[in-house]
Amino acid sequence: MAELVPVEAFDMVIFGATGDLARRKILPALFHRWCDGQIPENSRIIAAAREDMSTGEYLERASEFVNGDKKAKAWAAFSDRVTYTAIDAHGDGPGWQTVRDALDDDPAKVRLFYLALPPSVYGPVCTAIGRHGLNTKASRIVLEKPIGHDFHSARQINEAVGAVFDESAIFRIDHYLGKETVQNLLVLRFANMLLEPVWNANGIDHVQITVAETLGAGERAEYYDRAGAVRDMVQNHLLQLLCLVAMEPPVSLDGDAVRTEKLKVLHALRLIRAEDAGKCLVRGQYGAGLIDGSKVPGYVEEVGRSSKIETFAAIRASIDNWRWAGVPFYLRTGKRMATRRSEIIVQFKPVPHDIIRADAGVLQPNRLVIRLQPDEGVKLMMMTKDPGPGGMRLRYVPLNLSYADAFEADYPDAYERLLMAVVRGNLALFMRRDEVEVAWRWTDAVIRAWQDGACPLHTYAAGTDGPSQGSLLLSREGREWF
Ligand code: NDP
Ligand code: BG6
Repeated sequence: MAELVPVEAFDMVIFGATGDLARRKILPALFHRWCDGQIPENSRIIAAAREDMSTGEYLERASEFVNGDKKAKAWAAFSDRVTYTAIDAHGDGPGWQTVRDALDDDPAKVRLFYLALPPSVYGPVCTAIGRHGLNTKASRIVLEKPIGHDFHSARQINEAVGAVFDESAIFRIDHYLGKETVQNLLVLRFANMLLEPVWNANGIDHVQITVAETLGAGERAEYYDRAGAVRDMVQNHLLQLLCLVAMEPPVSLDGDAVRTEKLKVLHALRLIRAEDAGKCLVRGQYGAGLIDGSKVPGYVEEVGRSSKIETFAAIRASIDNWRWAGVPFYLRTGKRMATRRSEIIVQFKPVPHDIIRADAGVLQPNRLVIRLQPDEGVKLMMMTKDPGPGGMRLRYVPLNLSYADAFEADYPDAYERLLMAVVRGNLALFMRRDEVEVAWRWTDAVIRAWQDGACPLHTYAAGTDGPSQGSLLLSREGREWF
């Protein structure tokens, strides 16, 4: 594995430090980078939330993920960098002075404010950071998705954040952009000559993007029941994947070069109208069922109230530009599906003329399967001759690259990569303001189209591939989900 280069020392304030995201993702990510020697000793982490407790109590609680003697020793050293502060980040209480005192006075030291907070307080918290004079030239703000609930709320948040921080200091996280396999999409497309000449409507029949989870709404039901699958997953993760598949080659991997190309794709996404809802949109909500052989309740029983929110969405998206005219992008995501699986499938067109006229086996078009998680890998389905004397017999076989077999190294969690990228100031892995807003405009149109087009909410049993109507999106066009 390549040697890890340490980042420069930083101070980081995590607002919402007692929350699910901070506990499960942010602190473990920082700790793992510390263990690998990437975080310098003179870095500081200021954990902040409203609950009153001592730093010792916080660390005791936060250490639940640390196991083994070696890790416990490293945790003790890491903990020396952490202090806990009770603060109402919305207000003007004494917590702000404590945060100020905990921060290094050096204006050149990188200072990160991580908002692991409900999006409704992003604006007020940024205003408070500005009012308390904590925003230095070396400051950066990290915002979690979703940025808002729709186009208008996203714009309001962006305005409020932008009044305090320059766009070049705003890091909007979509953790899918930090995944190893998602990064590999850029390499696959732009570091190989083979794909690009056929990566367009001449060579490609359609694209499928699936992000399926076996988990239910779980402990985040309060949030999820206001969001649903389209706002929670499609507006950000699935659209970002679509952009990386569909964008033109950027001139470099510089933050703005990549983001400008993604933005062009988002602008070219056709807005779905109510009259097209029946052909383009399917919504579902899980009922009771079986996951890994165990019974699980339906969504309504899980959240304890009646709900019309979708836990599954399938969408036929179109990109109106030269490269992709006539090539459907089918997007699908759901909770409590049969298996956890995120993948991008690029289905190529059939060869223009069949000279093989096989004795057995059907000539099938090439298919590229990019497996994002789990079992990360890339598979190219090819036609080959079945070896032997039995005439021209065809077989459809994979050229297979499995990450587990090809690479020995463990690769870091997306949050580890993203946090180090924030410290380095690398914006390429984060969403720019205009991307987020244009993505919301398309998403709002989807939601309006299914409201105005009276799209029904179908029920599917937990542990299945979603409602059967999801297949109709493709089958009525002579295709199927793979
Ligand atoms: P939680 O509800 O679990 O945590 C929210 C945190 O914010 C708590 O620590 C809460 O602590 C604190 N908080 C709320 N209001 C204030 C305030 N006024 N001042 C200071 N602290 C406050 O949410 P999550 O951790 O799940 O999510 C955080 C953000 O990350 C959200 O925007 C979410 O959408 C996003 N996100 C979360 C993911 C996840 O897997 N959890 C995945 C992707 C995005 P207290 O009440 O004690 O102040
Ligand atoms: C989050 C969503 O952004 O992504 C969750 O809010 C979802 O609902 C999660 O479970 C999926 O992330 P991953 O990395 O587990 O695929």
